[in-house]
Amino acid sequence: MTQNTGKDLRAFDSDRDATHAPTKPSMISMRNVNKFFGDFHALKEINLEIPKGEVVIVLGPSGSGKSTLCRTINRLETIEEGEIFIDGVRLPEEGKALAQLRSDVGMVFQSFNLFPHMTIQDNVMLGPTKVRKMAKSDAQQLALSLLKRVGIADQAQKYPAQLSGGQQQRVAIARALAMKPKVMLFDEPTSALDPEMVNEVLDVMADLAREGMTMVCVSHEMGFARKAADRVLFMADGAIVEDTDPDTFFSAPRTDRAKDFLSKILSH
Ligand SMILES: Nc1ncnc2c1ncn2[C@@H]1O[C@H](COP(=O)(O)OP(=O)(O)OP(=O)(O)O)[C@@H](O)[C@H]1O
Ligand SMILES: [Mg+2]
Repeated sequence: MTQNTGKDLRAFDSDRDATHAPTKPSMISMRNVNKFFGDFHALKEINLEIPKGEVVIVLGPSGSGKSTLCRTINRLETIEEGEIFIDGVRLPEEGKALAQLRSDVGMVFQSFNLFPHMTIQDNVMLGPTKVRKMAKSDAQQLALSLLKRVGIADQAQKYPAQLSGGQQQRVAIARALAMKPKVMLFDEPTSALDPEMVNEVLDVMADLAREGMTMVCVSHEMGFARKAADRVLFMADGAIVEDTDPDTFFSAPRTDRAKDFLSKILSH
């Protein structure tokens, strides 16, 4: 199946799932993905089908490949082997098609990366006006509605440095949503925040999950994982070693690696 085009892939999915109609086509599909940094094998035979609307939490020890996995999904990292499809379309190598794909896949990092010299509203408007070529007045309205959705419409004219970390991260989420992405990737979005600001960001993420966004979240926030996630992936040494629902993972992890990991995150 490695030479499939996007169209072929959908056909393949419906054939395979013929006994489980109606089928849910994958929003994210990774097939036999391998990633190397020089000699270092950072992602090992990743096979992953994430249906539309699924919320996936990625857990695992430091260095297990969680960020690398996310970064391959919007091609911030290239892969040496395998294939990745978003909504049935194979990840483009470069050029305009790649820019389009990047805007379909929103990403929120630990650091907010807002432009410090631009207001909050202008930060959110930038993608729609520059990449989507949206008219300024439409982009303004869109930005305000998104800022309202993440609970900070009253901060629209401020600059990033005038906002708390939790507020800045909510702007970063609004900025990603402004591109109307099909998928949202979160890489430890709350780990740089003061504890009292973590929940305001997780609440926005939980709302998104409820609204049906397809999400891949690297996060060790277990309350969020139990409340909002459909599925937990546990990674170790570049491989996905457990793939299950949150309750099963947290109450009955299968592997020693996962048991050891959970005992560490539960003990602080
Ligand atoms: N640009 C790079 N060049 C070389 N090695 C890299 C690079 N990026 C990541 N790695 C290595 O790949 C492995 C996986 O890194 P990754 O950042 O994906 O881990 P992680 O699971 O996100 O860890 P953490 O929990 O610390 O964020 C690590 O051993 C890391 O050192
Ligand atoms: Mg990481």
